[in-house]
Amino acid sequence: MERGTDMQKAAAILREGGLVAFPTETVYGLGANGLNPVAVARIFEVKRRPAFDPLILHVGSPEQAADLFLYPEDNRIKALMERFWPGPLTIVAPRKPIVPDIVTSGMPTVAVRIPAHPIALELIRTAGVPVAAPSANLFGRLSPTLPHHVQKQLTGVDYLLDGGKTQIGVESTIISLTGETATLLRPGFITLEQIREIIPVEMANASDAEDQPLAPGLLKSHYSPEKPLTVFESLQKDPGSHAGVIFLAHDPVRQNLKAHIINLSASGDLIEAAAHLFTALHEMENNPEVKEIYIQKVEERGIGIAIMDRIRKAAYRHGN
Ligand code: TXA
Ligand code: MG
Repeated sequence: MERGTDMQKAAAILREGGLVAFPTETVYGLGANGLNPVAVARIFEVKRRPAFDPLILHVGSPEQAADLFLYPEDNRIKALMERFWPGPLTIVAPRKPIVPDIVTSGMPTVAVRIPAHPIALELIRTAGVPVAAPSANLFGRLSPTLPHHVQKQLTGVDYLLDGGKTQIGVESTIISLTGETATLLRPGFITLEQIREIIPVEMANASDAEDQPLAPGLLKSHYSPEKPLTVFESLQKDPGSHAGVIFLAHDPVRQNLKAHIINLSASGDLIEAAAHLFTALHEMENNPEVKEIYIQKVEERGIGIAIMDRIRKAAYRHGN
């Protein structure tokens, strides 16, 4: 796939129905013109994504979001937009008929956000259309935080806009305004506590959501590397030279290990750890000497909730 920094070219490809991978502040997205159902269908094909899993529309302004939401005057939408946009918060709310069914998997709601990355914003504004974009990975696999992660997994992308490494490293927080009370569908960089400063919000019930297409991002297995992944609290012994160990915070055992080590944050800063999480998992996946991966648990507070959500789903497929 062609990779570069030509904004005019990327925007033209989008307008004409092609696929452009681009950086956002969270992870790389695989974008198509969100009002063109044929272009959006190509996203599902390239990602091998099941049709029941709806897409986020990325817009460049609150006015553009108002064209997509059925009730843009909803005070909760207004308050959330004002506080968190541009930024890593996705709002799910009833949609206008202009939104194609393929974007929402036929649901009466649409997911929308204004990303904070300057390249993403410029692309959306230059293209002049809402950009449908899931993370630019194969369905169920590790999310991309670097351009070569996109190249490793996907074929059939017309252009890859290179923006280096993404800053936040975990996907946006998703909040649904479809019920009486707002619910958190996916934890992310913006925490429940931060949202609660603006509107009341509850955690979505994960056990309901498992088999439910309404919140497909809550599937138990997702974001998985191609190698067995084990979560540990404290390493009891050296797993050996065929293993890769990812530390998120300090661990006294790590000094003399034969294993391949990646340390996500020497000081135990979880925001820093989140930023490097998928990058480290990709590195372990790519390293031929690493046959299995171990990753350290963190406390589930603040962004630690989003980190443990991704780690659990990444490990689930291997039975732990
Ligand atoms: O940070 C992000 O959100 C990244 C960047 C590229 O913006 N995008 C991303 O998209 O993570 P994706 O497709 O990998 O995850 C979007 C999640 C999916 O789990 C999907 O099921 C959910 O959003 N979703 C989309 N529309 C929805 C809707 N109408 N109702 C409920 N969930 C929805
Ligand atoms: Mg994804």
